[in-house]
Amino acid sequence: MVKKTVGLSKRLHMKKTNPRLAAALTLILFLFQHCKPHTPTLGQDPITDVVAAMTLEEKAKLVVGMGFRIPGMPPAKKDTQNQAQDTGASKGPGQGQGLPGVSLPASDPEGDSIAEKVPGAAGRTHPIPRLGIPSITLSDGPAGIRISPIRNGDSSKTYYATAFPVATLLASSWDTNLVRTVGAAFGDEVLQYGADVLLGPGMNIQRNPLGGRNFEYYSEDPLISGSMAAAMVQGLQSNGVGTSIKHFAANNQETDRMTVNTLASPRALREIYLKNFEIAVKKAQPWTVMSSYNLLNGTYTSQNKDLLTTILRDEWGFNGLVMTDWFGGDDPVAQMKAGNDLIMPGSPDKSQKIVEAVKNGTLDQAQLDKNVTHILELIINSPEFKKTAITGKPDLTDHAHIVRQAAAQGMILLKNDDNTLPLKNVHRIALLGNTSYNLIAGGTGSGSVNTAYAVPLSQGLADAGFQLDSPVTTAYTQYLNAAKERIAKENAAKGGLALLFPSTPPAELTLAPGKINDCAHQNDVVILTIGRNAGEGKDREPENDFNLSKQEKDLINTVAKAAHGSHKKFVVVLNIGGPIEIASWRNQADAILLAWQPGLEGGHSMADVLTGKTNPSGHLATTFPANYKDVPSAGNFPGTEFKDKATKGFFGMPVIPAEVTYKEGIYVGYRYYTTFGVHPAYPFGYGLSYTQFVYSGLTVDHATGSNTVDISLDITNHGAVAGREVAQIYLSAPKSTLDKPAEELKAFGKTKELQPGEKQTLHFSLTAGDLASFDPGASAWIADAGSYTVKAGASSEDIRETADFSWAQTTIVEKVHSVLAPQSPIDELKK
Ligand code: BGC
Repeated sequence: MVKKTVGLSKRLHMKKTNPRLAAALTLILFLFQHCKPHTPTLGQDPITDVVAAMTLEEKAKLVVGMGFRIPGMPPAKKDTQNQAQDTGASKGPGQGQGLPGVSLPASDPEGDSIAEKVPGAAGRTHPIPRLGIPSITLSDGPAGIRISPIRNGDSSKTYYATAFPVATLLASSWDTNLVRTVGAAFGDEVLQYGADVLLGPGMNIQRNPLGGRNFEYYSEDPLISGSMAAAMVQGLQSNGVGTSIKHFAANNQETDRMTVNTLASPRALREIYLKNFEIAVKKAQPWTVMSSYNLLNGTYTSQNKDLLTTILRDEWGFNGLVMTDWFGGDDPVAQMKAGNDLIMPGSPDKSQKIVEAVKNGTLDQAQLDKNVTHILELIINSPEFKKTAITGKPDLTDHAHIVRQAAAQGMILLKNDDNTLPLKNVHRIALLGNTSYNLIAGGTGSGSVNTAYAVPLSQGLADAGFQLDSPVTTAYTQYLNAAKERIAKENAAKGGLALLFPSTPPAELTLAPGKINDCAHQNDVVILTIGRNAGEGKDREPENDFNLSKQEKDLINTVAKAAHGSHKKFVVVLNIGGPIEIASWRNQADAILLAWQPGLEGGHSMADVLTGKTNPSGHLATTFPANYKDVPSAGNFPGTEFKDKATKGFFGMPVIPAEVTYKEGIYVGYRYYTTFGVHPAYPFGYGLSYTQFVYSGLTVDHATGSNTVDISLDITNHGAVAGREVAQIYLSAPKSTLDKPAEELKAFGKTKELQPGEKQTLHFSLTAGDLASFDPGASAWIADAGSYTVKAGASSEDIRETADFSWAQTTIVEKVHSVLAPQSPIDELKK
């Protein structure tokens, strides 16, 4: 431009114009060029200047994502007939069509025209190049980055991701250091494969064992859930990528997940369903929080300012961004006002509504600026903005090694009569059960991973040097190969929708009792795996899922008889993502190993535990009830549907308004079982080892008037092999006006690997906040005066040592806002 100006002034001189006039004109031109307002650029200028330079349309574009395409489906035609409502899909499918009767959201032209940086990622934001704002990429999910393994049809370079052990397994390790290590490896894949934010960890409370996504979540207990999520966030974010803790909040079921109105008391919310998020936010500062699909006490969580601003930001100090779950909520303007900064996956009509709202004064420009600022603050820290090199080559071998060890640390030995395990003098194994040959590495839906491989138990045992009964192995292999073909065909016909509507796995292979007898006779031990899979969009069922099917029970019966008839031991391995009924059949098995869904090295990890290479040290972070009807929420799960008010959503599927009331209040999981004297099959905190640990020397130190309680505990390995023990510190608090559970977990730790005879002293520290319950009347956390009992346990039912201390004065630990009350009080369970 300056060149041009000089050129023009030369010409003025050449035409012999008045030199003064020419000079003045030149000066005017120069000033015009140079005083033109400077366009701020993200990263070079303050964010406030960038926001100030954005047009309203640009702001409204940034707060709404760039749409979403089902992998394998073509972009949508840009018509308006395909406009769908905001609610309705079990998982919002986004752009794409091609299925008969399918109704899909409007296409985002930019989403169609800009090539995806990470194919298969769940979403991205709009770029605004004139201001130096790049598009960032958001990818699922909690058990490994979920992206397409092949890009642009080019299979010469692949992007398979590691399937890490599911969250429930990781929590069962009770080892936050381990979870941090897993998170660090996981985050490396997020970075190397080009995503900026990982949509996880999932951390909803496992309110009911039938929750379809329980495998994506950690625990029924908020301290475990919050501590594990914090460790995972720290590990992931140590790579310079972001996380999104989800789904905030009270999203504890899949049935009617986009329409269900969760009715819960402020106390249950504060102590159980928000507490875990509070711990994770305060400890680990996740870059983002994902609001949930459901309504909470009458308002969509993504449209609830009390939840997303008053509690999350004002009370807990969260300073990242909040995004919706995919297609969540029904009012983009209300979402902005609530502090839900980013609407995902987004469609142009939502931006349009935001523009209109600012223009007609129903949305304050200052609020929109805040939302935009949160997004820009994240973008500026993102790998995309920093132009971090994408290698496409994370160290998958190293990660597989981490997975193998981590999975073995979270497996739980439920039963081990006569020291059946570790396997001794065993050479030949009769290995039964479909999932012994087809490992379920993790669950389905957005929690699934395109993993390069999954080691089944058959391979794990073979690699450990065992010989598997060959006729049995052949029978399973043939049967499962045929099933695989069927499933591949069905999935191909469904296209990308297979993710949401996976084909049913094959029924257990039925072997003739004679064949089972023969193999029990000819082998040294019989191992049977029972498998379960579940995932997004659907809860599990009490029959043929929580309860074993008749076929499975018959199989256990036949195998037990055959094994014991030949004086062989019978071991059951559980390759499951959530609790099943065990009490009615456990007598028939000599040993039971709960292997969970252990990630891609599963068969090796299982073999490591079965052989004693790894001494099991996992403990339950979720109760295994004796019967489904014992579950405190059984009568209120998944709630009531209002079918007469149903409308049609994506795929013509019914959108049914529903309501669920958390009548059990704070009595979730072991808080209920221990208070009401109901004995589960396996209690929270339970887990055996190949060695024995002795607890001693519990000391509790609390000086009157001080704010802390210091606890120490000795754990000694009294057995013959090395091992690790989980120490659980429960607290029984004095009762005043508030109902209190019999005990609550307040601290936990895990020993190092203790050699036989070795002792370790573990230290814990509680503060007044740990003693406090939430008093809804005062809207405050209050630690009551009186006598408290500290209980050191090997499970919530196996308390080994206790010690008392007294808290001198009732203390208001924290006063908080009186928000989130249901319209009418809930008649909650009380002791
Ligand atoms: C799930 C989220 C997931 C998102 C993007 C939603 O249906 O609930 O957990 O992150 O889809 O795939």
